[in-house]
Amino acid sequence: MLASVKNILEEAKANGYAVGAFNVFNMEEVQAVVRAAVKKHTPVIVQITEKTMNYAGDKVIYDVVKAVIDRESATIPIGFHLDHGYSFDTVVRAIEMGMNSVMIDASHKSLQENIQITRRVVELAHAKGVFVQAELGKAPRLGEMSADPDWDKIMTNPMEAQWLINETKADSLAVAIGNAHDFFRERPEPDWERLESIHKLLPDTPLIMHGASDWVNHKVVEAVKRGVVCFNVDTDLRIAFNTVLCQFTHDKCDIIDPRKVMTEAREAVQRVIEKKIDLFHETSKK
Ligand code: G3H
Ligand code: 13P
Ligand code: ZN
Repeated sequence: MLASVKNILEEAKANGYAVGAFNVFNMEEVQAVVRAAVKKHTPVIVQITEKTMNYAGDKVIYDVVKAVIDRESATIPIGFHLDHGYSFDTVVRAIEMGMNSVMIDASHKSLQENIQITRRVVELAHAKGVFVQAELGKAPRLGEMSADPDWDKIMTNPMEAQWLINETKADSLAVAIGNAHDFFRERPEPDWERLESIHKLLPDTPLIMHGASDWVNHKVVEAVKRGVVCFNVDTDLRIAFNTVLCQFTHDKCDIIDPRKVMTEAREAVQRVIEKKIDLFHETSKK
């Protein structure tokens, strides 16, 4: 069932585990996420980005996600969230199409501008009961900056994070402690002290970890101990999906029924999600 992201994150925090937030772009991927959640009996978050809205059409992707959740998960809570809304207009688009959880990612702007735009989003969103994730600091992606960044310059400053949340009243915060998107090489070890300071200053703010596709057991455990309640995963799902497509193009090219291809791709993505759910639940008190 479609559920509030706020409640899903609170439930995770209370029970000592983290929620997986999985990026999707089509029906098969939504089904993979929802089926994994149902099989594992645990809430998850389905997320889309502006690029996916452009790819599928706003209302189309909204209706696909909603229909799969309604049809395939009668009891397991599933959140539906806009990931990386880079502008006020994108967030408005998502809220207008019916989403009740959004991210405003103004992390590429100055702190002052980030606060201004995030505050504007929160005012609009909260008036409509929509949950807001903000971001401070950078979780880089390939092509965005040098492959060997000065991490101290781009990671989240704890005092600034406290200021941003106090000034904007955003509901959750994406943190940068050396994590990175896609195949960007991460800091050898996340800056745990930094995460701890952020959590101490903002004990009631759920912290979100982007770039979690390549996160392994010990990192997940350390992060959850320090206030992370949600891990974002996209790249590993893309790899699983594309690997199946490549196999069909190369080894099984006599199969021309695309439904056979998509069935295998969907199952491959679901298997990855199930493994991630197990990983994110390792600290569970349940
Ligand atoms: O960080 C989010 C995604 O990995 C990038 O998604 O290509 O749909 O913008 P996108
Ligand atoms: P990955 O690129 O590590 O999958 O991160 C995804 C993400 O952070 C989406 O917001
Ligand atoms: Zn991200």
